[in-house]
Amino acid sequence: MFASSSEAAEPAVDKQSGLVIAEGSNLVLAHCSACHSTSLITQNAMSKKRWLETIRWMQDTQKLWPLGDAEPVILDYLAKWYGPKESARRPPLAPHLMPKR
Ligand code: HEC
Repeated sequence: MFASSSEAAEPAVDKQSGLVIAEGSNLVLAHCSACHSTSLITQNAMSKKRWLETIRWMQDTQKLWPLGDAEPVILDYLAKWYGPKESARRPPLAPHLMPKR
């Protein structure tokens, strides 16, 4: 709204983890980098529902601990920065190029 520039700035990225530095990124670092690389996160693009399913799957099968109060913040962060926003990164496919169902 009050941005002085017409273009949105690229979000700052933490060099070590590759995570976008924003609200919740410290929680994601704390809870999500113990077992595997954060590149598993940064390479993904999921809806909030799919992120929640992934977390539940890790809790059910991979001994991920309960995230408690951090969970909603982590989910918001993941859905915001690693959500299915393909159109923001590349133009959508023309309708005639879309796979037929
Ligand atoms: C207790 C260990 C542990 C923690 C902590 C953990 N994960 Fe995982 N996660 C795993 C394991 C094990 C896999 C499977 C790894 C593989 O396939 O190489 C995995 C896989 C993933 C995948 C890939 C899933 C897929 O279907 O390809 C994503 C995304 C992911 N984790 C995100 C997260 C996020 C976000 C957090 C923090 C909320 C987190 N992980 C915390 C153990 C953990």
